[in-house]
Amino acid sequence: MAVYTKILGTGHYVPERVVTNADLEKLMDTTDEWIQQRTGIQERRWIDKDTGASDLAKPAALKALEMAGLQAKDIDAIIFATLSPDYNFPGSGCLMTEHLGIPGTPALDIRNQCSGFVYGMQIADAWIRAGVYERVLFIGAEVHSTGLDVSTRGRDVSVIFGDGAGAVIFGKSESAEDGAILSTLVGADGAYAKDLMVEMPASRQIPRITKEGMDEGRHFPKMNGREVFKVAARKLPEAVVTALGKCGKTVADVDLFIPHQANLRISEAVQKALGLPDDRIYNNIMRYGNTTAASIPIALDECVRNGKLKRGQTLAVGAFGAGFTWGAAVIRF
Ligand code: UT7
Repeated sequence: MAVYTKILGTGHYVPERVVTNADLEKLMDTTDEWIQQRTGIQERRWIDKDTGASDLAKPAALKALEMAGLQAKDIDAIIFATLSPDYNFPGSGCLMTEHLGIPGTPALDIRNQCSGFVYGMQIADAWIRAGVYERVLFIGAEVHSTGLDVSTRGRDVSVIFGDGAGAVIFGKSESAEDGAILSTLVGADGAYAKDLMVEMPASRQIPRITKEGMDEGRHFPKMNGREVFKVAARKLPEAVVTALGKCGKTVADVDLFIPHQANLRISEAVQKALGLPDDRIYNNIMRYGNTTAASIPIALDECVRNGKLKRGQTLAVGAFGAGFTWGAAVIRF
């Protein structure tokens, strides 16, 4: 009997502190107009006290469990996608087993930046269909705000990123009609590593971090925004069309498309390339900024809870980010 993977529940959590573009104008030389025009972002959430990615993930996971009608002990494995883990090591997935009171549960941290959800979903799907685990908790969670250069020097990057967490519980489905991951596609190209990276601390350097490097701001994210924009606008639609083709579908079959929330202008370019009408794409970057691995699961949870995505509908997701990495997937919800 064929086994498929379906979405059993979703949840998200964002910190309460709202940081508007006007708030950023007080920290650096920027304007609300510049930020909105270039990125579509109006506000984002930043933590206001010591809070790790796993702390944001806990309430998101609990909401996903509640929707799925499950308890934490029903989870067989955790996949935690983040580029901003609580600590350098151990991974935030390990911390989740304590947060949820499920010691012994296997926990895998993955480092695929903005494409973390698609990579994680592909792993969950393979585990479930191979019979390794029955129920997998995926988490995408980021605390960017403590790692941003909020001076004018870092303004191109720091206005974009926000903190938040999204959770999705994947489980077994016995018919494709009842819900299924229909196809997944992921890729990476390290030739572009330096176009979006945090260079320090780095184990390849002796010592890993220096005062001089910090003075130069090399412990903050650096981005070649134009290159990221250009490659994302090309790779994303390509990945979505390929993922649709892998399961015999076309853009016309997509009821809802959720792009990674990198920049509203990238989402608009992708929408145009795919020829999707406004009512079949969902964006929330205006409210949260770019939350990297959390962005698709946060948007997915909003769509499930506000009725934009209903059981039986076809969902497509697409992601692109640092690495470069990219991915796309097609899901019958
Ligand atoms: O998940 C992937 C995450 N990354 C992305 O999605 C980024 C994709 N790229 C972008 O979204 C855009 O490249 C940015 C929004 C980051 C930048 O927009 P841009 O149109 O490519 O601007 P630019 O970097 O070419 O800079 C244009 C000007 C520069 O000033 P000069 O040299 O023309 O005087 C910048 O210094 O805008 C200036 N600038 C700013 N001005 C006000 C850069 N950041 C800011 C800012 N506020 N925050």
